[in-house]
Amino acid sequence: MVMQQTIKDDLTPEQTLKVIFSYAAKIASEKQLDRLLMLMADMGRELISADRCTLWILDQKNNELWTRVAHGVDEIRVPAQKGVVGYSVQNHAPVYIDDAYQDPRFNQEVDRQTGYRTKSIICIPFENSEGQIMGAYQAINKRTSSGVFTQKDLEYLTLAASYTGKSLEAAMLSNEIEETQKEIIFSMGEIGETRSKETGNHVKRVAEYSYLLARHIGMSDEEAELLRIVSPMHDIGKVAIPDSVLNKAGKLTDEEYDIMKRHTIIGYNLLKNSHRHIMRAAAVVAHEHHEKWNGTGYPRGIAGDDIHIYARITAVADVFDALGSERVYKPAWQLDRILDFFQEESGRHFDPVLVDAFLENLDEFLMIRDSYRDL
Ligand code: C2E
Ligand code: SIN
Ligand code: SIN
Ligand code: FE
Ligand code: FE
Repeated sequence: MVMQQTIKDDLTPEQTLKVIFSYAAKIASEKQLDRLLMLMADMGRELISADRCTLWILDQKNNELWTRVAHGVDEIRVPAQKGVVGYSVQNHAPVYIDDAYQDPRFNQEVDRQTGYRTKSIICIPFENSEGQIMGAYQAINKRTSSGVFTQKDLEYLTLAASYTGKSLEAAMLSNEIEETQKEIIFSMGEIGETRSKETGNHVKRVAEYSYLLARHIGMSDEEAELLRIVSPMHDIGKVAIPDSVLNKAGKLTDEEYDIMKRHTIIGYNLLKNSHRHIMRAAAVVAHEHHEKWNGTGYPRGIAGDDIHIYARITAVADVFDALGSERVYKPAWQLDRILDFFQEESGRHFDPVLVDAFLENLDEFLMIRDSYRDL
């Protein structure tokens, strides 16, 4: 496939400043790493009149370079020493190539897969404030009549990289903190489960059911992702419930049930002091997942919209899973009985909007149940 492209001129100094100014504010206020990468790539592409521009980030731990080209698309990863970008990063040096197919560093496989024809390439590595390599800017196919990248392009891309380095560093740091929070939260959820002799699959199922419900009531993918992380944490407070109650083989006495109910407040107290938004969401879910739509739940007896939507969703996910699973105190219920229960409890225990979303998309929930079955 041959690309028909309009020929462009290099930007004048005035135009260059205009491009930088128009991106500067957006870049400075962008905290989301993948959106930032795309903004920076767009800025680089405009600055040097390239057809494509990609910002590659070095992942030291896995010795890979990764990037993201569009929303919803998974990140792309390549070994950190491969190709032109790998060469540039490994050697801490810029690379210009006028004809990629004449250069042994170029990996033609990428073109073969995309049908794109790479001709000229410029690639410059960039560093963080401590002088460590963070990744590289790579632009492909100069769109001016000369068709090749120049020393000026190198200067502009270097400028763009240094201009945006701070924002990028900040976004990468908060990305890392977020990844760490997710890991901590997930292991805490698993600790809660281990204590009550359940498999890790309960955690995974509740996470996936919650995500599905959130999406089906129109929540954004970002928020549904947050819920996927925090919903399996709802029972973290069970770590403080004595074994004699938690794993009692029969029905709880009233006193024992009162002790059991404290897992909501204990979980909330464990999580509430963090200001991090993931932790705050987890705290709300731990606190409110046994509240009921009609106000007869615990610990506070709040009702309707006063119960946070994350907790209302987790309640449906948790009870659907609890009923279908064997517990020390009860056998697993058959699906018919579970569905009858949800119909009866719609508007009583559960938010009716969520019960509808659940029943209308039952096949998807059953697929999750099947793929994370307890062995
Ligand atoms: P869990 O076993 O994970 O159950 C979570 C929720 O699912 C329950 O919250 C309840 O809303 C629903 N659920 C589970 N099994 C049944 C059932 O057989 N019938 C009905 N109608 N609903 C059911 P709940 O009741 O607030 O219980 C919270 C936790 O307290 C339970 O988590 C479990 O760990 C413990 N628990 C509750 N009842 C008993 C019991 O009789 N014996 C023992 N050993 N533990 C119990
Ligand atoms: C490479 O660096 O060899 C890959 C070039 C591309 O992204 O097309
Ligand atoms: C557990 O006991 O940790 C799982 C039960 C639940 O999620 O309510
Ligand atoms: Fe619970
Ligand atoms: Fe649970």
